[in-house]
Amino acid sequence: MHRPEPVVSVRDAAVRVGGRTLWSQVSADVAPGEFVAVLGPNGVGKSTLVKVLLGELPASGTVRVLGAPAGRDNHRIGYLPQRRSFDASLRIRGLDIVRLGWDGDRWGVPLPFASRFGSRRRADARIAEVVELVGARGYAHRPIGELSGGEQQRLLIAQALVRRPALLLLDEPLDSLDLPNQSAVAGLVSRICHEEKVAVVMVAHDVNPILRHLDRVVYLAHGSAVSGTPEEVITSATLSRLYGTPIEVLTTSDGRLVVVGGPENPGGHGDPHDGGRDAR
Ligand SMILES: Nc1ncnc2c1ncn2[C@@H]1O[C@H](COP(=O)(O)OP(=O)(O)O)[C@@H](O)[C@H]1O
Ligand SMILES: [Mg+2]
Repeated sequence: MHRPEPVVSVRDAAVRVGGRTLWSQVSADVAPGEFVAVLGPNGVGKSTLVKVLLGELPASGTVRVLGAPAGRDNHRIGYLPQRRSFDASLRIRGLDIVRLGWDGDRWGVPLPFASRFGSRRRADARIAEVVELVGARGYAHRPIGELSGGEQQRLLIAQALVRRPALLLLDEPLDSLDLPNQSAVAGLVSRICHEEKVAVVMVAHDVNPILRHLDRVVYLAHGSAVSGTPEEVITSATLSRLYGTPIEVLTTSDGRLVVVGGPENPGGHGDPHDGGRDAR
């Protein structure tokens, strides 16, 4: 019996942006069907890691995705970029946003075969299925600009899922959601991960809403990363080593992790509405 090929395999990778090394010695694996978080303070290079997985940015070392060099198999990846908000006056329906995932060119590359004669009914059926899966049936016909942030995010997740990807890359999908919606969307992504058997890599700046769903984490800080189970990685000892400075991980009475110390509070990020944090 051979083990299933990892969905993502990163070995000793390093990336340079703007003439400097953003991070190096990064290694991480994602197995089929796993839910993995990419954590770390703002500006550390989480979105950059996602772009490396998409082959949009070159990295040294080894970066293999779906058994091929990064960028080769992007049609098998569902990608939700870091938050873009819809103008309140935008009239395009939620359903059409989802349909773009089927026949749109999300990376500026037209998808072959997508609009071939005869695929329309298949497309409609799959679109209805993912709209149902994310619980958006009640509002999918309304203009996207009129919907709440949580509703928009569910439709964007549906868009990323519609072509049955083997890997879902979600860049801060919980950002800008209120706490109940963060928890609901986290639960939804976890359910999708298991029901659709898709590996999920989710960038997050607060681990708490997703903590109980996670198989593994990749924690980026101080120009490098550690990866492993949350229990292995999110500890005072591991994070202190990673940051090169004393870090304390506290557990609150309701089970939330709070990371204290370091150049920027990297774990218990509290208020999701503190604004201005993102390198967009
Ligand atoms: N193409 C680029 N050229 C120059 N700097 C970049 C480029 N892309 C990202 N950066 C910089 O790299 C850093 C990390 O960005 P990013 O990956 O967006 O961080 P994060 O997602 O962790 O907040 C930021 O300082 C950002 O300004
Ligand atoms: Mg980012």
